[in-house]
Amino acid sequence: MGITMAERNVSSLAVITRKSLFFLFIVASTLFILSWFFVLRSTGSPRFIDHKLLPNSKLNAVIGSRSSGSESQKDVEPSTGNRAILVDNEEEEKPSSSSQEKEASQANNGVRCNTNEKVVLKVFMYDLPPEFHFGLLNWKPQGRSVWPDFHTKIPAYPGGLNLQHSIEYWLTLDLLASELPNPPNARAAMRVRNASEADIIFIPFFSSLSYNRFSKRNPHQKKSSNKVLQDKLVKYVTAQKEWKRSGGRDHLIVAHHPNSLLDARMSLWPATFILSDFGRYPPNVANVEKDVIAPYKHVIKSYVNDSSTFDSRPTLLYFQGAIYRKDGGFVRQELFYLLQDEKDVHFTFGSVQKDGINKASQGMHTSKFCLNIAGDTPSSNRLFDAIASHCVPVIISDDIELPYEDVLDYSEFCIFIRTRDALKQNFLVNLTRNIGRDEWTRMWKKLQEVQKFYEFQFPSREGDAVQMIWQAVARRVPAIRMKLHKSRRFSRTVSRKETGLSRIPSPSNFW
Ligand SMILES: *[C@@H]1O[C@H](CO)[C@@H](O)[C@H](O)[C@H]1NC(C)=O
Ligand SMILES: *[C@@H]1O[C@H](CO)[C@@H](O)[C@H](O)[C@H]1NC(C)=O
Ligand SMILES: *[C@@H]1O[C@H](CO)[C@@H](O)[C@H](O)[C@H]1NC(C)=O
Repeated sequence: MGITMAERNVSSLAVITRKSLFFLFIVASTLFILSWFFVLRSTGSPRFIDHKLLPNSKLNAVIGSRSSGSESQKDVEPSTGNRAILVDNEEEEKPSSSSQEKEASQANNGVRCNTNEKVVLKVFMYDLPPEFHFGLLNWKPQGRSVWPDFHTKIPAYPGGLNLQHSIEYWLTLDLLASELPNPPNARAAMRVRNASEADIIFIPFFSSLSYNRFSKRNPHQKKSSNKVLQDKLVKYVTAQKEWKRSGGRDHLIVAHHPNSLLDARMSLWPATFILSDFGRYPPNVANVEKDVIAPYKHVIKSYVNDSSTFDSRPTLLYFQGAIYRKDGGFVRQELFYLLQDEKDVHFTFGSVQKDGINKASQGMHTSKFCLNIAGDTPSSNRLFDAIASHCVPVIISDDIELPYEDVLDYSEFCIFIRTRDALKQNFLVNLTRNIGRDEWTRMWKKLQEVQKFYEFQFPSREGDAVQMIWQAVARRVPAIRMKLHKSRRFSRTVSRKETGLSRIPSPSNFW
């Protein structure tokens, strides 16, 4: 009995262990199969195929067709493999992409083509109080609008040398005019009232005028009006929801006078600036990638119906300008000593004042070449006076940045000379004397073609300075969008306060 009990116990124990082992095996294999199922599911998703597998399959296709030795692939060297794959990708993507993707890519192509021709930039403009813009021109608002009524009168910008930096004025007028009942067809920018639909958000502050007219402090003032206005501007703009949404990255502000916006630039620098040069900006506040260079408005009259020739312009080289004591002044002084004894060179110091404008016009209209020497900043109005006079500019300014240079080759109508070369004995005169009639005439003709790119006018006309500047801004928009989108990557996981979107980031961690 006892034995049988023991035997039964043993046998039942064996049954239990066998059962549990079998159970364990089932569980383990189920888990194994399930895990494979999940692995396959995740790797087999269409997204994975699109992004990871497709290039490989294309690679295989390329390798396959190459090893099969078809005529077209025979001459592809192994060293050009990467290029071959790139070419194949382009060809294969079209048929394999869905019709929706095809439409999108066609739409993108359309946009890309249009940027070269005519894409109307959509601009949202803050309704800043008049003290920031037309109020600086002594204009007083009538009724509730902060903007002048174009049907009655357009406030004039003060003449004289102030006009050099009047870019803010022409751009603002152009935006306001885009809302008139019959706006001209050839527009480069239009005002939109919904910021979400805008390509860029414009801050219509007349910063150069504010600097030119109000930077002197009255004895009873603690700060100049120009400084007070900039403080107000920063407070106003950084409190707007449009600014907070982007940290200012999609904003645009004109600061054409090198000393304009001197205080506010340190707060508003995430925006794109429209500048004359970068001479007085640290590179993290303003640079070629972010900002737009605009021409000065020339003060010398355009040479209309210019029938001059190489021989009818007796002066070889013309320069009229101020002496500066800093670095630029040294170069001007040296050049003066080098050139003073050349009889067909005109070189005098003194800025072009009101009565001097006629004399300078006369001088530039009768000279073959006009010198542009860096002053206390790399750019100067003289370049644009020379272009308006069709006097071939000779540019001696190693750090100059030029307007629209991404679409315009200045070497076709300007001569560039490094400062260290210009200071060599005879170099400048020798170089210009060696440019013959044909070459000079080619450049002179080109100057007549490009002249309109530097004309500011209202209403703006196709291809004039106003529209060229808007188009230059439009070419910045894709990069601005990219920066903006990248800045939002982690906006979900980091609390809003930490994203930096609601406060002004510091230049060092912004880029
Ligand atoms: C502004 O535009 C956005 C995007 O097109 C739209 O969703 C929104 O409703 C518009 N707002 C107004 C006030 O029209
Ligand atoms: C320039 O020439 C055109 C046509 O030849 C003429 O109508 C115009 O008045 C001229 N302008 C000037 C400023 O001489
Ligand atoms: C002047 O230019 C010519 C031709 O470019 C050159 O041969 C000559 O050496 C130059 N002379 C001086 C003094 O630079």
